[in-house]
Amino acid sequence: MKKTLFIASVVFYSIIVQAQYNNMSMPEALYGKTFNLNIHESTKQLVTGNQTITGAINNETFWGPTLFINKDEEVRLNVTNNLNESTTVHWHGMHLPAVMDGGPHQVIPAGTLWQPYWTVKNQASTLWYHPHLHETTQAQMTKGVGGFIIVRDSQESSLALPRTYGVDDIVLALTSRSYNSGTNTFVTPPASTRVYGDYMLSNGTPKAQYTLPKQYVRLRILNAEIERGYNLAFSDNRTFYIIANDGGLLNAPVAISGTNRVKLMVGERIEILVNLANDAIGSTVDLKAYNSGLALGFPGGEPNTTGQFGSLLNNTDFSVLHINVGATTTTTTPITAVPTTLATNAYWAASDATVTRAIAVTGGQGPMPFSLDNRTFVLNYINKTINLNDIEKWTVTNNNIFGHSFHVHDIEFKVVARNGSAANVGTHESGWKDTFYVPRNESVTFVGKFDDFADADVTHPYMYHCHFAGHEDGGMMGQFIVTTPLATTSFSSTNAFTLFPNPSSNILFVALKDVNTEIYYVTITTITGRVVMMLPQPQWQNGIDISSLETGVYIFQMMDKKTKSVTTQKFIKK
Ligand code: C2O
Ligand code: CU
Repeated sequence: MKKTLFIASVVFYSIIVQAQYNNMSMPEALYGKTFNLNIHESTKQLVTGNQTITGAINNETFWGPTLFINKDEEVRLNVTNNLNESTTVHWHGMHLPAVMDGGPHQVIPAGTLWQPYWTVKNQASTLWYHPHLHETTQAQMTKGVGGFIIVRDSQESSLALPRTYGVDDIVLALTSRSYNSGTNTFVTPPASTRVYGDYMLSNGTPKAQYTLPKQYVRLRILNAEIERGYNLAFSDNRTFYIIANDGGLLNAPVAISGTNRVKLMVGERIEILVNLANDAIGSTVDLKAYNSGLALGFPGGEPNTTGQFGSLLNNTDFSVLHINVGATTTTTTPITAVPTTLATNAYWAASDATVTRAIAVTGGQGPMPFSLDNRTFVLNYINKTINLNDIEKWTVTNNNIFGHSFHVHDIEFKVVARNGSAANVGTHESGWKDTFYVPRNESVTFVGKFDDFADADVTHPYMYHCHFAGHEDGGMMGQFIVTTPLATTSFSSTNAFTLFPNPSSNILFVALKDVNTEIYYVTITTITGRVVMMLPQPQWQNGIDISSLETGVYIFQMMDKKTKSVTTQKFIKK
């Protein structure tokens, strides 16, 4: 009798305690080589009262599924934009052709199917995808459109690491939001200029808790913020091990212990191992942002709670994940140790570079938006032209009032110096990188090789920019093309073609008049000009799948690679 009462009160007590936390969403995992992504508006209960209008992908109500892909495999993405406005989807960190990159130039109009594909060249890593339409990136990211990509390869698979998704290997997208009171929307520009959210969301869950097994667990952490930085560590200062950053595994784990913390800036990722084997089942520990007392210019370090740069989370320490320790997994063999070595990355050194470039953080005075090299981004200006296979050294200098997060598309690079010294490079950023923090009054130097993909087409460049969505939308962005010396082969005399069978119900074949014509881009529109399908460099030899189109008359626009001229043919979908 006494015992029953005791148990009952423990259960009751734990319900009360747990009630302050919500079980964290773990995005659905998708595997394979073909992925269908349906971007749409959704709603999610995030605060008491109305559900909040969100943006999501497939079955999620905020954010999107986690895509598992394998190195050396060709992956195909069928991205359908079911928002009521144009968007783009950028594969952040992915090494792929610029025309597949999903930057501000690969605009997917509402209702359109975009079909990029590529062979995965990245090594095992935690990447992500998100909208990148110029001037609406902040609004669409605020709604929650985005997702993780997990690349696997044989090197990573051969290591004894936690690898059971959602069990001992979890993704953790950190962000924060504010809510318009009395309505069911997030605070987002242009209605408000507030840049920081007041409330933490972990995988789109407020006050998140998650049960992790009593063993080594792996957390793949992404700073998915609009602007805030996170200074991460555990609430009991326990040691954790960084095993990977943006571009994949480090050569060896880096232990972070005691009162040391790891700064994770917007767009950056780290994978960590932490040992829960010595914790009692039912005990808890928090992963926290130790964001109080940071140096001036750290985004989210501002003292104010209200106003344009105010937030309830500013300059304070807060939980980003409340971990409940549960039983050891029985579905998989628990990992009991941290591997001593992980990978053998052959990094570039400053001495490998044959081209040196300098980029300055500018603007930000009074009403002036932040910029790079005193130039506000415009879609039709190519800031840099890079020769294919060149190894370049870039130094980004921030003699300005605020810190920023700097990201380069196309490649993973090595950060070789901060303020001119290799000794200042953090151990947490010692692997391949695509994004880094440039604090106020610092410079960061990186070296990277622009290999594999050249495309002189100025309408499909790669981007480099500040990853604070508001800064990026405000024009703190530039773009580059990677080129190779022009081939001297003569242009094809014709790019005429016919389509068959026409009418067609499912697969449409292209018959080129000149077999040497290379197809660069196919766009299918309705007869009134509405774009319904976008096919960058389609593999047209096996026909083009038009099964997603409704019956009707369409225009097939073909751009050839050499002349970039466009020829059209009508076809009927029956
Ligand atoms: Cu994560 Cu240019 O983007
Ligand atoms: Cu910035």
